[in-house]
Amino acid sequence: MSAGSPIRVAVHGASGRVGREVLRAVAAAPGLTLAAAIDRVPQDELPPLPADAPYYASVRDALAERPADVIVDFSLAHATLAMLPDALACGARPVIGTTGFAPEQIERIRGLCAQHGVGGFLAPNFTIGAVLLTKLAALAAPYFEYADIVEEHHEMKADAPSGTALGIAQAIHDAHPERFARNAPEREPLPGTRGGDFHGVSVHAARMPGRMAHHQVTFGGPGQTLSLRHDTNDRECYMPGVLLAVRSVAALPPGLTIGLDKLMSL
Ligand SMILES: NC(=O)c1ccc[n+]([C@@H]2O[C@H](COP(=O)([O-])OP(=O)(O)OC[C@H]3O[C@@H](n4cnc5c(N)ncnc54)[C@H](O)[C@@H]3O)[C@@H](O)[C@H]2O)c1
Repeated sequence: MSAGSPIRVAVHGASGRVGREVLRAVAAAPGLTLAAAIDRVPQDELPPLPADAPYYASVRDALAERPADVIVDFSLAHATLAMLPDALACGARPVIGTTGFAPEQIERIRGLCAQHGVGGFLAPNFTIGAVLLTKLAALAAPYFEYADIVEEHHEMKADAPSGTALGIAQAIHDAHPERFARNAPEREPLPGTRGGDFHGVSVHAARMPGRMAHHQVTFGGPGQTLSLRHDTNDRECYMPGVLLAVRSVAALPPGLTIGLDKLMSL
């Protein structure tokens, strides 16, 4: 892309729940232009898309006809890995929101980007609030003896606890390497009620309809608690982070940058 010209953005997984939000956000964002919408679902089987974009079933066909500087991906882990060589060969830098990669798949993404001499970006959580919650929790962790994380999600979520909850637990542990104090019940009539144990951080997961994604961290010590909470209620919440990544990815070093905090100067 040349300085001053709009950043051309293709969206992979475009007909999905987050992909549709990305189409809407890119179409409305100054300095960006929507190059193509890509998804395996045929367009005539879909409700109308929220933005006008040429629609393709294959990344290779899409980028041959509609070159893009960036490809935003919210699809499935195996689909991301399958499309990445074509996207990179066509000159599109990846901004990846898809989750569920095994560590070796992350390394494969890193290797493909490095091989093409470009920087790619991946964030397991694109909400700016969750990144700040993680940072604030790490800041507070050294000053307390007890720590709880309660996460709540919709009933369709496949994993428990959420990747974000585990990321927060890891950040808290990194900032407080000794194990947190944790009450061990003398009797546990309902096994598991005390939650998961991550280096003494108790982690609880709740699932039901009517929720999207919610994380609360509570620290405790004698005579006081400190609670930090982040709530998302609409998939629009990911868009400021996605647009930040789209605007930043061209300047990233070859390989893969992981985590929105890296783009937020925290
Ligand atoms: N990083 C974040 O902040 C964040 C936030 C929300 C969701 N996610 C992740 O993003 C992904 C998508 O979430 P969603 O809720 O939009 O799911 P979704 O099922 O609504 O959408 C996924 C889309 O990918 C498409 N797809 C699947 N395989 C494909 C292929 N081979 N080629 C082309 N398109 C293909 C599907 O047809 C679908 O339209 C998931 O991995 C989810 O966990 C990440």
